[in-house]
Amino acid sequence: MTTPDISIKLAGIPMKNPVMVASGTFGYGPEYAPLVDLAKLGALVVKGISPEPWRGNPTPRTVEVASGLINAIGLQNPGAEGFLRDYLPFLRKFDVPVIVNIWGRTIEGYAAVAARLSQAEGIAALELNVSCPNIKEGSKSFGSNADMFKRVVAATRAVTKLPLIPKLAPDVFRIGEFARIAEAEGADALAITNSVPAMAIDIETRRPKLANVTGGLSGPAIRPIAVRLVWEAAKAVKIPIIGIGGIYSAADALEFFIAGASAVAVGTANFLEPTTALTVADGLRDYLARHKLGSIHELVGTLAC
Ligand code: SIN
Repeated sequence: MTTPDISIKLAGIPMKNPVMVASGTFGYGPEYAPLVDLAKLGALVVKGISPEPWRGNPTPRTVEVASGLINAIGLQNPGAEGFLRDYLPFLRKFDVPVIVNIWGRTIEGYAAVAARLSQAEGIAALELNVSCPNIKEGSKSFGSNADMFKRVVAATRAVTKLPLIPKLAPDVFRIGEFARIAEAEGADALAITNSVPAMAIDIETRRPKLANVTGGLSGPAIRPIAVRLVWEAAKAVKIPIIGIGGIYSAADALEFFIAGASAVAVGTANFLEPTTALTVADGLRDYLARHKLGSIHELVGTLAC
């Protein structure tokens, strides 16, 4: 049998394989370039960019817990102009689709950053961050309310021709409803999911371990939640889904494909082993060969139940 084909076209973007690196776990590229061949990634999703630079939350901003990590970075970033000046020229040197995660504190802010980035060469798509649990204004406040969500997707869609990928929160009551709104408002794909609101307490001081008190839990602990969300959303819409949540191995990624994802993104595992996305892609190829499947498409949404 010939080598199985794991290349995909997602939202019109050709990718060598369906394994991306998730926003917030891979910096803006240069941080990982000495460790990973960026051109071998399916796509690179950079940390959230807002219209203006943003300092993020006070420290401590991360804490390890059983089977995961809680972070409350607070979307620190160099702003749209800083990203275009300091990072995009570097990323353009690599043959890899660059997806920019964007956020704003207002609907106008989302539209402004989307419009500005759309003028630049070398951005493959925009991932709409409406699911970060760590800031008071913006992001998740738009992703947890169906009406606000509809407005932010519509406003962003109106100002960009780039593929638009809303990244949905894990703790909405009915993910299918948000998925349908995104599809109706012109989203090209969905990213599911972001970290789960969580907290950890130092029992000696009785103080929260994070300065922000709460944060977002990621890593293997949330994988079964994410797989279920992908499965539910995939039943609700026709646009492709990128499955995200605690993927450390090909076996983990395969659950997402079988549940209905067309691609996946590796997140927290990048902090432990920066080449995880590449080993996941290799493992997908091996699995397809073992199951006599010619392409990854043959696996998507094949859950037997
Ligand atoms: C953060 O910066 O607080 C996390 C990013 C995210 O959840 O999107």
